[in-house]
Amino acid sequence: MPPARRIKRDFQSHFTRVSRLSQSAPFSIAGHNASANPRDPAFYQQPYAFYAELHAGTPTFVWDDYGHWCFSGFREVNALLRDKRFGRQILHVATREEVGLPEPREHTVAFDLTEKYSLLNLEPPSHTRLRTLVNRAFVSRNVEQLRPRIARLANELIDGFEADGETELLKSFAVPIPAIVIAEMIGLPAEMAMQLVEWSNRMVAMYMFGVTPETEIDANQASIEFIDYVRSMIAERRRQPKEDLLTHMLTSVVDGEKLSEDEVVSTTILLLNAGHEATVHTAGNAVKAILESGLDPASLFVGDKQTEATVEECLRFDAPLHLFTRYALQDTEYEGIPLKKGDVIGLMLGAANRDPRRFANAGTFDPFRTDGQNVSFGAGIHFCIGAPLAKIELQESLKALFARLPGLHLAEPPVYKNVFHFHGLERLRVAW
Ligand code: HEM
Repeated sequence: MPPARRIKRDFQSHFTRVSRLSQSAPFSIAGHNASANPRDPAFYQQPYAFYAELHAGTPTFVWDDYGHWCFSGFREVNALLRDKRFGRQILHVATREEVGLPEPREHTVAFDLTEKYSLLNLEPPSHTRLRTLVNRAFVSRNVEQLRPRIARLANELIDGFEADGETELLKSFAVPIPAIVIAEMIGLPAEMAMQLVEWSNRMVAMYMFGVTPETEIDANQASIEFIDYVRSMIAERRRQPKEDLLTHMLTSVVDGEKLSEDEVVSTTILLLNAGHEATVHTAGNAVKAILESGLDPASLFVGDKQTEATVEECLRFDAPLHLFTRYALQDTEYEGIPLKKGDVIGLMLGAANRDPRRFANAGTFDPFRTDGQNVSFGAGIHFCIGAPLAKIELQESLKALFARLPGLHLAEPPVYKNVFHFHGLERLRVAW
């Protein structure tokens, strides 16, 4: 092509890109700043369009809607999750006043109590003490023993709707599996699982961008009910100990001390909530990805190795948790960006998993890839304690689903929920 025509074409394609971004895209990028409203459906239904533009030019940027630096590159996210200069908590090294955090609110006292001793809100040494105590229950060799129970549960649920020819798969399948499994592990009756899910859903609404006072009040009410229930179960276990995680938390001694009742309440609620929310979303997103890929589902679950690889790719391709934050624990800098103690940074897990510098054909769902390691479970000291359990739940449930219902197909286009951080479907109607 003659040089003049080539320049014209290049200019045209550049012009098309800029005008596409400015006129119809639900985001804009200018220099090191980007803007995208996390509550705009055009954005959260398809955040990957934004991520692709970021990867093409500005993987590290200030997200104007949040007002802080964000990192979308795999290398950066993976490194920052492990970097001890950053933490999930700041109040162990600074006062609220110093870092401009508001005082606790009256109307969220119960919710705040559930968060106070949550592993996710602690840093060492308190974090190490609590994590050590629950860790043993979740290591691979222990959760591996649950595999037959999980497979049986998945098959029983399919028995319940197989004859209907259609179902809303989140409610009938994806939600009950992790909710029942984590309830049973802790030692709560399986019949309580759906009530626990209801409380959890109302509490998780607090992590939305731009939470309203109504949501806060509702989340607090759910926390009051949840705490009351957990306290009643604690009283029961104190009277009559059992072979379960709740009894273990109440009776174990770490560093010469038992956990306080508030620590047990907080940890129980965290495990119950974290134990199903992300797994449900991953299962829904996985079924969507598999059915939309056009691949033969039977080929994706041939043998244990392929089943593991398929689940890994589902976690990479459409992660359920897209954004976590960290505080700078000291004045510091990261790759030329100066940060003050108390500054917040955003780590974009869902974007890092699609980084073309890390994954070949990053935007393609390919369960046969061999470079599938991802950051969906985080990294560093807060790495998901439930990762081995979640993987078994996903492997057994997806394998059973596609084996039992070979004609499975989408009955309507799936729509994501209006909670950008928790990237999961509103519902998933399927038929066979
Ligand atoms: C596919 C399912 C799951 C995904 C994608 C997921 C993801 C994550 C991520 C990204 C973190 C770290 C957050 C951060 O670094 O800021 C985390 C922490 C955690 N997850 Fe999961 N999770 C899943 C399932 C589970 C399950 C089944 C449990 C059940 C016990 C669980 C319990 C926890 C706990 C307790 C933490 C806090 C760990 C700590 O702070 O030390 N998660 N999870």
